[in-house]
Amino acid sequence: MTIPGILEEKLSSALKAVLGEELPADFRASVTPSADLRFGDYQSNAAMVLAKRCRTNPRALAQQVADRIGQDAVCSLEIAGPGFINFRIRPEFYAARLLAMLADDRLGVEKVQAPKTIVIDFSAPNVAKPMHVGHIRSTIIGDALSRVARFVGHHVITDNHIGDWGTQFGMILWGWKNILDEQALAANPIDELLRVYKDVNLMCKEKPELLDTCKAELVKLQAGDGENLAIWKRCVEVSKSGLSKIYDQLDIHFDYWLGESFYNDALAPLVDGMIAAGMARESDGAICVFSDGSVPPNEDPFLVQDKGEWRANPCIIRKADGGFLYATTDLATLDHRIRTWGADSIWYVVGAPQALHFRQIFSTQRRRGMDGDYRHIAFGSILGDDRKPFKTRSGDTVSLQDVLDEAIERAARVVEEKSPDMPDEEKKRVAEVVGIGAVKFAELSQNRMTDYVFNWDKMLALQGDTAPYLQNSYVRVRSIFRKLDGGPLDWSAPIQLSEDAEIHLARLLARYGEVVPQVLDDCRPNVLAAYLFDLARAFHSFYEACPVLKSEGPVRHSRLALCELTARTLKHGLGLLGIQLPDRM
Ligand code: ARG
Repeated sequence: MTIPGILEEKLSSALKAVLGEELPADFRASVTPSADLRFGDYQSNAAMVLAKRCRTNPRALAQQVADRIGQDAVCSLEIAGPGFINFRIRPEFYAARLLAMLADDRLGVEKVQAPKTIVIDFSAPNVAKPMHVGHIRSTIIGDALSRVARFVGHHVITDNHIGDWGTQFGMILWGWKNILDEQALAANPIDELLRVYKDVNLMCKEKPELLDTCKAELVKLQAGDGENLAIWKRCVEVSKSGLSKIYDQLDIHFDYWLGESFYNDALAPLVDGMIAAGMARESDGAICVFSDGSVPPNEDPFLVQDKGEWRANPCIIRKADGGFLYATTDLATLDHRIRTWGADSIWYVVGAPQALHFRQIFSTQRRRGMDGDYRHIAFGSILGDDRKPFKTRSGDTVSLQDVLDEAIERAARVVEEKSPDMPDEEKKRVAEVVGIGAVKFAELSQNRMTDYVFNWDKMLALQGDTAPYLQNSYVRVRSIFRKLDGGPLDWSAPIQLSEDAEIHLARLLARYGEVVPQVLDDCRPNVLAAYLFDLARAFHSFYEACPVLKSEGPVRHSRLALCELTARTLKHGLGLLGIQLPDRM
């Protein structure tokens, strides 16, 4: 059990003893970490909340509870302010927790009691279109959430819902037949398809007739034309293999790649079924889902406010020309995930601009009788130094591959400066781990809803809230053990903590099991990133204040145990964020 869990139990039974029948049956005492350590390690406002409900004096109630708990092996208690109960954890108790952690691969992170089947939809780039910075955010956040959800015991299915059936294929097909450079395609398929797409786009602007020719190619594809289907298939294949290289480099892997095209055959029957059930109807030739009036207008995704009036804002599922849309595919995708995979919960890690789309499809799905825990895990934008959307110098969207290449190149300079004598092969490996780690950590240390400025120097700095700082901390801890002679250490020997810096490091280490599950409360990996940064800082303060190798006996052993657990926790925590560690740097 986590420490707040233990304290909550103590508090609840003391409250029960003090208040008896008066304790409301629905009351749950909650204990949270104190923001200020002067007020203990944890605190609770339970006495204040209850005093209000039971009409008694909060401080007196808090005092009675503290007296009840009395002399305790876990903590000492203090009453503060209007009736806060503050808990100070005893160093011996932390020492015991650390011993238990040393013997536990999970480092004190418990598995959830009721595991769910969770489908996580992330990354999802579009074939033959650039994978841009928005996809970077989705890819990195989605992967971190998948790792955490899996580790706490959920059955996680990751699905890369690539955009492999969009209108872009009209231009691609024509371009493939007329301006493709086979050699460039073999060398870098993603770039070549992108070039073709962009060039045809420009040509269409100059010669609008070409647009009709491209549209005709698209119609042929959708009608099942053999030649166009074969080209489409190759486009998707080469794109997938190009994408796989990027994902390998990122160490990100999917259970499935069911792109939009996978759902083609399901679309017509889905729309017909909805018409038959009266859930969708014709409007100007298109088939649409309208409000059913079941929620107040300000919560209704099928209404918008227009000059003070509520106006229909339908979700179109079939265009007047018979074509299907993004929303139609997403409804079919929901069906598949629920029926085939038995999903209890489906998470979409997609940028905030698609919020309305998801509200509409989730609501439609509920109306279709499939209620579930569907979540749009939105995020803000990445900005350039000018605080405008991050672009290349020439104004193009920045491709993920370019970002990774530059990160590795810049990390190589950091490694060169720090360890000029390292063998070249190792330098190269370390640069990859540091560069990619830096991009990931810069992303994951942000609150996902805030827009953040992409800044190379900041994300690669060896000081501050960065991957290199954390990686370097790990390397420093590990180097202590390299200097140690003698056989393996016995991690079951007792630990004692007396210095403030030791106790503070222990306090943070013991908190790991609390922090990891919190990432999933609101799908925020930055909670874990911030914890790891605090942990590394606490380690540095400890290492400055408390000699390790120069100390002796049980003190030395205890300090080594703190070092060992710091290294394990940093490695594990960064691993949950998808960030690797070098042995040296
Ligand atoms: N391909 C889409 C885009 O690039 C993202 C897809 C997200 N997933 C989904 N099921 N709609 O914007």
